[in-house]
Amino acid sequence: NYEEKKFPDGFLWGGATAANQLEGGFYEGGKGLNIADVLPGGKERLNVLKSPGFDFEIDTEKYSYPNHEAIDFYHRYKEDIALFAEMGFKVYRMSIAWTRIFPNGDEMEPNEAGLAFYDRVFDELHKYGIEPIVTISHYEMPINLVKEYGGWRSREVVTFFERYAKAILNRYKEKVKYWLTFNEINSGLELPIFGLGFAIQNDEDKYQPTFQAFHHQFVASSLAVKACHEIIPDAKIGCMIIYAPIYVYDSKPENVMYGLQKSRFFNNFCGDVQVRGEYPAFIKRYFKEHNINIEIQPDDLQLLKTYTVDFISFSYYMSLTEKEEKLATDIGEGNILGGMKNPFLKTSEWGWEIDPIGLRISLNELYDRYRKPLFIVENGLGAKDKVEEDGSIHDDYRIDYLREHIKQMREAIEDGVELMGYTPWGCIDLVSASTGEMSKRYGFIYVDKHDDGNGSLERSRKKSFFWYKDVIETNGAKL
Ligand code: BG6
Repeated sequence: NYEEKKFPDGFLWGGATAANQLEGGFYEGGKGLNIADVLPGGKERLNVLKSPGFDFEIDTEKYSYPNHEAIDFYHRYKEDIALFAEMGFKVYRMSIAWTRIFPNGDEMEPNEAGLAFYDRVFDELHKYGIEPIVTISHYEMPINLVKEYGGWRSREVVTFFERYAKAILNRYKEKVKYWLTFNEINSGLELPIFGLGFAIQNDEDKYQPTFQAFHHQFVASSLAVKACHEIIPDAKIGCMIIYAPIYVYDSKPENVMYGLQKSRFFNNFCGDVQVRGEYPAFIKRYFKEHNINIEIQPDDLQLLKTYTVDFISFSYYMSLTEKEEKLATDIGEGNILGGMKNPFLKTSEWGWEIDPIGLRISLNELYDRYRKPLFIVENGLGAKDKVEEDGSIHDDYRIDYLREHIKQMREAIEDGVELMGYTPWGCIDLVSASTGEMSKRYGFIYVDKHDDGNGSLERSRKKSFFWYKDVIETNGAKL
């Protein structure tokens, strides 16, 4: 029955991107450098962080930097937004580059040229009735804050972030009604450079600085929630976590306990603070047993308790199979979160396990825990696309991937989950965050740009473009 297959009225279909991965124009309009600007493309992208003496400087003799031009959304946003509109997007998730607004992060006054750029983008979106969903910080920390302040280790960064958040909330109060604080905030547990703005040196105790930095982000997040509600009373602001449901390898009780702890630690820790407004008991115990002493200022805990988020957004790419004692050979190749190989799942060309049912599990786990509206703001398949001689791209693998995930969303809604919307990742091809490649494509829209930096930057519609247009037009009934 066609009617029965429709998603709830007002379901927010769209797509998602981040400034540093698509804008380019890395030195234009007074923009300062951010963390993504100094990370090279290709396999060395994350390895450079471990190389002794890496100083967060650009070295064009040695490396290439695909983010610098990216797909040049900075100049081509009108054409791209027209294509989003053609697919029927209701919403478009994007981020603001902190360094367009505060080039060094610690200035007192915002940069007008940067503010004006996003005014133009929002106006263009509204021309087509597309609501922007804005991530305030998506792996784009000003490099000056990384170098001079040690990223989020420093309490001062909270003040800089609050200034930045208030500047954009005030400026765009008429134009943006959906806000997200920190992209994949819990990713800092695995890879602190993107979200927390510092690299862990081998000989350094990882957890003390990491949890201190998290505390600063939680305070900053609450300050952003407070400011958002005061400045834009009809806006909604959410947290954003990377969610990977944990499958326990076998029925050995020790492994089940390990799986529970792993899930709490990775999936729930940040959400518990941002949604429930307090540090959960399991993390307090962990701090005690590992001698972690976080500096907390007198009003911090009250602030966290008072200014919790309105909804929970998350990215979903994979589940994780876990047991307590793993051998190196148990780990799934390409599994960036370090789980074991799951023999029941296929993987993408980059080794990421494909698990649509895991999305239904995630939605149920999150809703059971928090009882707040959920929003899937990232999901998708990174794949190599082949352009046929006539220019067409038959990306049936991408359609299959998305269809199976959307089916599971529908199941979760039937389960009773309150789901606000779905914005698949990289709705237009862009630079990969983990590898800096262009060839890892997620888009409905193909961009003629290649790993070596060549390409005309021309846009074209893949087969999935027409498929997704139908999905939106029929409100999810036709998959
Ligand atoms: C998420 C990030 O982790 O995954 C995005 O929020 C990123 O920025 C996406 O692009 C996909 O990862 P990758 O490495 O394939 O680009």
